Amino acid sequence: MFSQRHLLGIEGLSQSDITAILDLSETYVEQNRKTNKHLDVLTGLTQINMFFENSTRTQASFELAGKRLGADVMNMSMQASSIKKGETLIDTALTLNAMHPDLLVVRHPNSGAVNLLASKVNCSVLNAGDGRHEHPTQALLDALTIRRRKGRLHRLTIAICGDIAHSRVARSNIILLGKMENRIRLIAPPTLLPSGIDKLGVEVTGDMREGLKDVDVVMMLRLQRERMDGGFIPSEREYFHRFGLDDEKLAIANDDAIVMHPGPMNRGVEIDGLIADDINRSVIQEQVEMGVAVRMAAMDLLARNHKRWRVEEAMA
Ligand code: CP
Repeated sequence: MFSQRHLLGIEGLSQSDITAILDLSETYVEQNRKTNKHLDVLTGLTQINMFFENSTRTQASFELAGKRLGADVMNMSMQASSIKKGETLIDTALTLNAMHPDLLVVRHPNSGAVNLLASKVNCSVLNAGDGRHEHPTQALLDALTIRRRKGRLHRLTIAICGDIAHSRVARSNIILLGKMENRIRLIAPPTLLPSGIDKLGVEVTGDMREGLKDVDVVMMLRLQRERMDGGFIPSEREYFHRFGLDDEKLAIANDDAIVMHPGPMNRGVEIDGLIADDINRSVIQEQVEMGVAVRMAAMDLLARNHKRWRVEEAMA
């Protein structure tokens, strides 16, 4: 049974928690393909989205997910909030908490900020990405995409390529795919690998031609310029030559290997635009579709727990 109070990271989830979210997501994939997408699963509940960092996919899909499930959804404009007058993250959270939200969706540039916030509020908190730490719903939507395309989520060989060091997507995926017993290969220049990589139970190489052999899934990552404070690569042109996914490098992977990218993409830097658009190999748009379903499932499961705890607390 899924009994989590918050969704702060993949780290705290069991294999059965992950499977529960993915199984429920399947029903929402079907629901989202209907003309009438509305359900009343979250009717009467309030969802507040707080994005302290830019977002297209995550913000839009959390908003759509809440609205399709019937929640009252409020998007805080952090640029126009009292944070700009010096109010702290915690004081902002406590202020919103006093308005009795049920679900708080938070993206923040600092690793650990969302966990800290969750310890101060009464509602369920969903991490929409914190610094380099975790992006749990991204890893879950990636897992759903892989499971649907490959028919399973175990005993696959998965290459994660590019800027691993600055990527919360890579970290959440490494944890999730490891928990589900897959073989994970990281492909990156040494400057873009995090310290302590040897403790993650993954294979590591700096050579795309070696790393892409026999892989079922090729997951490309963007260079996270906003988290870099120096020269991590010689030039984008050189980077694409060595680490960018093009036809020649993709030919090394299994013939039926799928190509993934969490977005936003930098075409011609980490991926050739023609591969990104190739509907026979790329599942990038399917990842976006799965994102809405996974976020609906995560909020549905957390809201059920939230309701149960409120009843238990009232009776105690
Ligand atoms: N993948 C992802 O998190 O994209 P956004 O930054 O657009 O939300």
